[in-house]
Amino acid sequence: MAKKKLIHFTENISFPHLFQPRYAELQPEFRLKGRWREDFFRNNQPITLELGCGKGEYTTGLAREFPERNFIGIDIKGARLWRGCKTVEEEDLKNVAFIRSRADHIENLFQPGEIGEIWITFPDPQPGKERKRLTAPVFLKRYQRILKPSGIIHLKTDDREFYNYTREVLKEYQAEILLATEDLHNVYKNEPVAQILTYYESIWLEQGKKIAYLRFQFKIQDKN
Ligand SMILES: C[S@@+](CC[C@H](N)C(=O)[O-])C[C@H]1O[C@@H](n2cnc3c(N)ncnc32)[C@H](O)[C@@H]1O
Repeated sequence: MAKKKLIHFTENISFPHLFQPRYAELQPEFRLKGRWREDFFRNNQPITLELGCGKGEYTTGLAREFPERNFIGIDIKGARLWRGCKTVEEEDLKNVAFIRSRADHIENLFQPGEIGEIWITFPDPQPGKERKRLTAPVFLKRYQRILKPSGIIHLKTDDREFYNYTREVLKEYQAEILLATEDLHNVYKNEPVAQILTYYESIWLEQGKKIAYLRFQFKIQDKN
């Protein structure tokens, strides 16, 4: 392992706002499931999740802009999460946590209705592997369970196939599209959603790519 990566992994262990549960610690559920507000944030603010948060720029950007909410970024890559954790430490952000985990485990991490909003930012497009996409029906079902009634999901992507796939899945699903654009940065350039950028979003914009954005919610909450 590269020396820098090793240093970051070691530092990751010391961050009080980074959780790296082993599989066994998720069984049957993580100790903070249903208790994130009481036991970690120590407030009653709503929680927003970012899935596949990478280096955490978006999670920390939202946390700065909306101090009246709590934010949790989830990613599988510890080396990327280190950057977000370092920002939280440097800026003493009290409303942010990161979890190193697959998004597949969110039902072990959060209880039904515990989450107010979910952001899916520039997910891996998973060509030819539809079931692995973060907007595949198996994932939507999980989101529907952990979201509070009328909770909102946001998707930002540069990948037209992923965007079109998601729109097709949502047609089959009990979801209502609240906003959809294939050119976020032209159509909604003055909105906060276009002003806070993820790491990949900055790269794609520099390359002149258009960013698509979807905002949707489920018509009913799934408690099963
Ligand atoms: C293209 S990057 C985007 C990172 C960040 N959202 C951004 O826009 O800069 C996709 C990220 O999703 C993470 N990822 C992929 N599949 C995941 C999964 N099942 N659960 C959690 N994270 C995942 C990867 O580790 C990677 O950091």
